[in-house]
Amino acid sequence: MKHTHSSLLRTVVSLALCASGIGAAHAAVSVCVDTSSPTMAMDKAIAAAVAKQQHTTLSVHAFDGSGDDEGFDLKQFNVMATRDCQLVMGFPVDASASGLPEGLKATAAYGRTGFVLVTPKGEHTPSLSTLPAGSQVAVTYQTTPNLYFADYPKLQADVHLTNEDAIEALEQHKVSAAMLWRPAVVDWLNQHRDAAPFDYAELDEPHARWNLVALYDPANAAAAQAFQASVATLSGDGTLGKLLDPYAVLATPARAGEGKANAMTLSLLQRGTQLASNATTAMSAAPAAKLYTKEQADKGRADYQENCAQCHGDTLAGRAGPALKGKHFANPAANFHVSDIFTIVSQNMPATQPASLDHQVYADIMAFLLQENGYPAGSKALTFDDAKASTEPLVYRGTDN
Ligand code: HEC
Repeated sequence: MKHTHSSLLRTVVSLALCASGIGAAHAAVSVCVDTSSPTMAMDKAIAAAVAKQQHTTLSVHAFDGSGDDEGFDLKQFNVMATRDCQLVMGFPVDASASGLPEGLKATAAYGRTGFVLVTPKGEHTPSLSTLPAGSQVAVTYQTTPNLYFADYPKLQADVHLTNEDAIEALEQHKVSAAMLWRPAVVDWLNQHRDAAPFDYAELDEPHARWNLVALYDPANAAAAQAFQASVATLSGDGTLGKLLDPYAVLATPARAGEGKANAMTLSLLQRGTQLASNATTAMSAAPAAKLYTKEQADKGRADYQENCAQCHGDTLAGRAGPALKGKHFANPAANFHVSDIFTIVSQNMPATQPASLDHQVYADIMAFLLQENGYPAGSKALTFDDAKASTEPLVYRGTDN
């Protein structure tokens, strides 16, 4: 109780320092938290525990990571980390911590969370391989688990635009399971306490596990180090585990062979954050492979109009289905490759009759999609097998949206 006075005094002193422009030594722990993230309350509680551990005060700057129509620009993290706080909490990275906003660093992980397999309580289906053949599994649009269906052809994807829709499909028994971002599931359960409960288990699949880190500007390295030291103490005395639960668990050192080099942003997209592609310019600078011929794309345009346009629009701008052109579709932050999108196209589309078209037609349509997203034509046509195997990044290379 004695702390009250001294910490109050510290706040006043540090405010005075800031106000007079001598802000270098911030005594308070200062964090930015994302109001659109389901981990916000947890991130705040952890920051508060860290401040308490350091016998100082906490200052919180809230931001809305869902952004505007254009999405949330990664560059805004840099602005925040230099202007609004020392540590931007709750940033998910995979084991290799690649794909950080340029110029920023990440603290050691303070928690681990990720995509989980959600099932009705008591049904004991801990993995995708034990789901009965023909099971419908709900996923959220443009999230990592969409890619798992390629390895489990016996399962059927039921894709939703939001996490809420996907969870409701499970609640209403329209699907047997769902693959979702764990914090989103926890958040939903907190808000629907009258709903039937679910079980969820970590998915043992590529890029399913993510570390939660705080981002910081190198100028605030001292604050980041103090944060890490406090996190280690709180982890040791059991406080951190309790604060993470049930959104996340303690971070464990990366396991050999665990996912690497996938951008962190799928999980941001997943929790509702559309990241604008500030990386577009940089990535467009790399020469794009010439994967198809002009004649093929022309043929693909006709096939597209016949089979796809009613849902995705004559100009690919989207109708019942999402846009198939532009920087939200071919978003560098999402780190999709041609093969990923082609898998969706050839296995799940047209949505009403999946996998019903000839292989050649799918390849031609893919050529058309590449053309429309700014890829150059070449002298060799794209084959079904090429498209299926292509590791070419899918990045919008045009100039408009
Ligand atoms: C009956 C409506 C319908 C038709 C026809 C249809 N789609 Fe879709 N498509 C959707 C919907 C809805 C989604 C989003 C949810 C989903 O994936 O099911 C989607 C998703 C997609 C995606 C994933 C987009 C992303 O950003 O992840 C691609 C790619 C796609 N469609 C391509 C096609 C192609 C190519 C065709 C024609 C061969 C086609 N679709 C025909 C409704 C349709």
